[in-house]
Amino acid sequence: MAYVEFRDVRKVYRMGSVEVRAVDGMNFDIEEGELCVIVGPSGAGKTTVLNMLGGMDSCTSGTITLDGLEVSGLSERDLTKYRRHDIGFVFQFYNLVPNLTALENVELASQICPDSLDAAETLAKVGLADRLDNFPAQLSGGEQQRVAIARALAKNPKLLLCDEPTGALDYQTGKQVLELLQDSCRKAGHTVAIVTHNSAFTQIADRVIRVREGRAQSVETNANPLDAMTVEW
Ligand SMILES: Nc1ncnc2c1ncn2[C@@H]1O[C@H](COP(=O)(O)OP(=O)(O)OP(=O)(O)O)[C@@H](O)[C@H]1O
Ligand SMILES: [Mg+2]
Repeated sequence: MAYVEFRDVRKVYRMGSVEVRAVDGMNFDIEEGELCVIVGPSGAGKTTVLNMLGGMDSCTSGTITLDGLEVSGLSERDLTKYRRHDIGFVFQFYNLVPNLTALENVELASQICPDSLDAAETLAKVGLADRLDNFPAQLSGGEQQRVAIARALAKNPKLLLCDEPTGALDYQTGKQVLELLQDSCRKAGHTVAIVTHNSAFTQIADRVIRVREGRAQSVETNANPLDAMTVEW
């Protein structure tokens, strides 16, 4: 059994009489410790996939498992525990709490998890040892995204989910964030899934899932992924 399994997963949104098949029979696996890039055009269903995998949205049918746990079969109460303990989430626009410092933002996450990592140490690992007491508004976009990544990693999650994590950043800063995510995978052994519309990112991935119209068009593994800093787009 693979670490992550999507089996014939569907998600239908009903808006009055209109039915939107956001995910329409999706199948893929992700192995533990992999950096997986999920790529596809706008509206392909990428965010819906990530939200279902992260327990933030339910699937209409099919099964989703993580590390042997059937996520798609969990009660609301167990889903809350799953989101808290097993998943780290990184969003395009950081979603930090504005009136908490970098350190407090990370502590907020680490305090709710049993196997959490030290907040200050995790911030040091993402290169922010001297920014612990800064508020989000006192940090650059790239630094805020690093805090968000530290916040997710400090939970020591089974899976780190990133939705367009470089979408709000300039070219060079975006690359540094990709490098950080690649390092957290290669050096710290985290399993990371990155959603993007940018097909250049596929070059850094161990596994590439191409999504179109709610389906996985192809799933490929990459024997020799490039270092994030060497990728051009
Ligand atoms: N809560 C919702 N209610 C109704 N329709 C939705 C909802 N969320 C997503 N959809 C629809 O499902 C489809 C897939 O959306 P999704 O957000 O997963 O795409 P995406 O691949 O992440 O796109 P983007 O690259 O623009 O972020 C779209 O047609 C979208 O309009
Ligand atoms: Mg999206």
